[in-house]
Amino acid sequence: MNVLILGSGGREHALAWKIAQSKLLNQLFISPGNAGTMQFGLNINVNPTDFSAIKQTVLQNNIKLVVVGPEDPLVQGIHDFFLNDAKLKNVAVIGPQKYAAQLEGSKEFAKKFMIRHNIPTAAYESFTSENLEKGYQFLETLNPPYVLKADGLAAGKGVLILNDLQESKDELKEMLANQKFGIASSKVVIEEFLDGIELSCFILTDGKSYVNLPNAKDYKRIGEGDVGLNTGGMGAVSPVPFANNEFMQKIEESIIKPTVEGLQKDNIPYKGFIFFGIIKVDNEPKVIEYNCRMGDPETEVVIPRVKSDFLELLIATGKNELHKKTIEFEEKSACTVMLVSGGYPEEYEKGKIINGLGSIENSIPFHAGTTLKNNKIVTNGGRVIAVTSYGNNFKEALHQSYQNIEKISFENMNFRTDIGFDL
Ligand code: AMP
Ligand code: GLY
Repeated sequence: MNVLILGSGGREHALAWKIAQSKLLNQLFISPGNAGTMQFGLNINVNPTDFSAIKQTVLQNNIKLVVVGPEDPLVQGIHDFFLNDAKLKNVAVIGPQKYAAQLEGSKEFAKKFMIRHNIPTAAYESFTSENLEKGYQFLETLNPPYVLKADGLAAGKGVLILNDLQESKDELKEMLANQKFGIASSKVVIEEFLDGIELSCFILTDGKSYVNLPNAKDYKRIGEGDVGLNTGGMGAVSPVPFANNEFMQKIEESIIKPTVEGLQKDNIPYKGFIFFGIIKVDNEPKVIEYNCRMGDPETEVVIPRVKSDFLELLIATGKNELHKKTIEFEEKSACTVMLVSGGYPEEYEKGKIINGLGSIENSIPFHAGTTLKNNKIVTNGGRVIAVTSYGNNFKEALHQSYQNIEKISFENMNFRTDIGFDL
């Protein structure tokens, strides 16, 4: 089977690495891909939200299965585009249709879904510019910190957590009346602050059955000790040591099963990944957010821990046959450390030559933001390389990654030296 992966990050490199190991694969294509995905397939320089160009790519290369990496094409309806096209409708798309993608694309949609299906989450109310005053009043009833979320996609920047009531009111006005996050903040969800430790859980589902993927914890802040600006993710650990069997069982019973059953009750088809952002509060799991795709850099530790043929699972998802499959995990830990461009997540330069990748041993450098220029691998994004390693525990795996990182260099390279510090 010919397969196309959409996206260009470390997540897509990890998926390409894994799918390329499948005996069911004929040819692999990645759009647009990066300098790492090239080792496993053909990069085709097409933007994942350019649906007509994707259509051409699929038809020209006899592609029968498309794995959608990022959320944007899903929220914009790429799966619906395939279903509504006579020539594409039999191509399997791994990633939900537009309506279901609102689980990520609209915080209010996700909240209503959770409340309707009794899935534990923070209490909330939502507001528009029409009832701004009501928003102020609601804030006054809460204790700090105040959590304000733009309803729509805001490139990971739409959540504000503030301690001061007046500042929260001002920001609410900025979001609603002055479109601080554009149209994404024309509605704002204000919710109860939950105090706890977070982890990410993932499933692959055909809408009826599902398989659990390994869990992971990511480190989102730029600074050591988890301080400073939010990033796409600076590193990840799998499995998460504090998520013991008993706790994972709670997540399965109170969150994962009700979510998949809720989709069925609501008649919402869903083929693809569900990412559950979970927070542990007083030993009980609650949902912080849903994403309709895999996480990044979580994928760079989750996928290396899947032993089963992943393409076989994806094909079964496409055919509604996931109930016939089981998934096997690698018992070892996998950890990743993200090498980023100096200045990220604010302004940074691209095009820096990356040295030392060839001398890495016993780690997998998943390319997150790289490209080939004059036959050299150069930086092409804020997040550049995720260095993943295995170990008997997370400390061993991290040690291995940090040893290999010493061999890699590019101008202004930055990374966190404390991934896993809180475990
Ligand atoms: P989200 O985009 O909804 O995942 O929010 C981004 C981050 O903000 C989460 O990963 C949490 O660290 C934090 N966050 C979101 N909602 C809450 C909440 N209700 N209580 C505490 N922290 C939250
Ligand atoms: N690492 C968080 C995310 O992918 O959204």
